[in-house]
Amino acid sequence: MTFKAIILVGGPSRGTRFRPLSLDCPKTLFPVAGHPVIWHHLEALSRVDGLREVLLIGFFEASVFENFLFDATRKFGDKFHIRYLREYRALGTAGGIYHFRDEIQRGDPQHLFVLNADVACSFPLNEMMNFHTTHRGLCTILGTKVPPEDAHRFGCLVAKPGSNEVLHYVEKPESFISDLISCGIYLFDVAIFNTMKEATQNKASQIALDPYTDNDDKLQLEQDLLRSLAELRKLYVFETKDFWRQIKTPSSAVPANALYLEQYAKTFPERLAKSESGGPQIVGAVYIHPTAVVDPRAKIGPNVTIGPRVVIGKGVRIKDSIILDNVEIKNFACVLHSIIGWDSKIGTWTRIEGTPVINHQTIITHNGVKVQSIAILSKDVTVKDEVVIRNCTVLPHKELKSSCHNEILM
Ligand SMILES: *[C@@H]1O[C@H](CO)[C@@H](O)[C@H](O)[C@H]1NC(C)=O
Ligand SMILES: *[C@@H]1O[C@H](CO)[C@@H](O)[C@H](O)[C@H]1NC(C)=O
Repeated sequence: MTFKAIILVGGPSRGTRFRPLSLDCPKTLFPVAGHPVIWHHLEALSRVDGLREVLLIGFFEASVFENFLFDATRKFGDKFHIRYLREYRALGTAGGIYHFRDEIQRGDPQHLFVLNADVACSFPLNEMMNFHTTHRGLCTILGTKVPPEDAHRFGCLVAKPGSNEVLHYVEKPESFISDLISCGIYLFDVAIFNTMKEATQNKASQIALDPYTDNDDKLQLEQDLLRSLAELRKLYVFETKDFWRQIKTPSSAVPANALYLEQYAKTFPERLAKSESGGPQIVGAVYIHPTAVVDPRAKIGPNVTIGPRVVIGKGVRIKDSIILDNVEIKNFACVLHSIIGWDSKIGTWTRIEGTPVINHQTIITHNGVKVQSIAILSKDVTVKDEVVIRNCTVLPHKELKSSCHNEILM
C-alpha cells in the first residue's frame, strides 16, 4: 500500500488561543520535549512503511517553515519528501486538502493520513492502518476516551459496539452524547475526494440559494465531511488507549511535554538526562539540550525540558515545566508548572509557580477572571531577585520587581 500524509498546520489567525507565546512562535513549531510540536508527527510518520510524501497545508507565509523543513528533510529525507503547500486564503480544513487534490494524488497514493497539527499523541498509525483494512469505510478516525466533563470541548463520536462504525459525529455538543472523542487524526481512502467534491458543490449551491446565510464557503473536515461520512456509514473509529492531548492553549504544552518525555523513557531513553556524579540531580523524565549549562547543585524534574543555551544556577529547583532558549535562572530560584519564554531572566531566590493541569482543563478561573493554569512568562521577561509569581501570564518584554498572584501582566 502507498500513502501520503497531510499535516494541517493552520495559519496565523488560528493561533490566537496560543497567545502570548504565539506572538513569537507559531503553535505548530513550539518546542515540546525538545522538538517542535509537528516534529513528533513526522517521527511517528517515519514508522509507516510505504509513506512517500508528507505535505504541510496551511496559510502561514512559506518562510515560517523554512528552517523547520530544512531540519526535517535532513532527518527524515531518506524516508519521505516533505513540502509546504500554502493556501492563498483560509479554505477550511477540508477545503485546503481539496484545493491541493491534484498535488496530493500525484504518484497515485491509495491512502491518506491527515493529522491535525495541534495534538500530542503516540500516533498509533500502523494500528489504524491494520484496522482500516478490516472495514469498508472511507475513513478511520482515531478516537480516545476523555473524562465525561471534558467531552464537550471536542468532536464526540457515537459508535456501534463491535464494528466501531460511527453512527453520529457531533462537533463540541452542548449536552453530553459520548466520552469517545476524535483525536484529529484520520486515515482516508483517496476516494474521499469524490465525497469532498460533492460536499463542496452542496456548500456552493446552499450559498447560491441564500446569499445572506451565515455559512461561509470554507469546507471543514469536522462539520462538513465527517458528519456526512457518518450519515453514509462510511466512518469507523479506532480507539487508542495510549496518550492524547490537544495543544490549544499555552498551558496544554506542559502536559504534552510531560507525555512525550514519558514516551522517550520507553522508546528513546538515550534522549533523557540521567543523574551522574558531577551533574545535576535528575528526577523522572527530563530533557536537557546539549548546549544548556546546568549547575551540578540544581535539582531538575520530573517532566522538564530545558532548551538550548539555558543557564541554570546552583540550588535551583525546576519541576513540570518548559524552559525555552537562552533563559537564565539564577541561584536558588524555583520554577514549578511553568513555561519560561525565550531570553527571560529569573532572579535569585525567586519563585515562579503555576497550577498543574488537570485532565484537559488548561484554564482556571480566579475571581471571575480566566487565567492559564500554568504560569507563563513570554519572551524576554525579567523577574528580579526574591519575587514570587503565582498563577500569572506575563506578556513579552516585562520587568517584574514585585510579587504577583492570579493576574495577566501586560
Ligand atoms: C510527570 O511525572 C510524574 C512522575 O514521574 C508522573 O507521575 C506524572 O504522571 C507525569 N506526567 C504528567 C502528564 O504530568
Ligand atoms: C493558584 O491557583 C490554584 C488553582 O485555582 C489555587 O489553588 C491557588 O491557591 C492559586 N495560588 C495563589 C497564590 O492564589
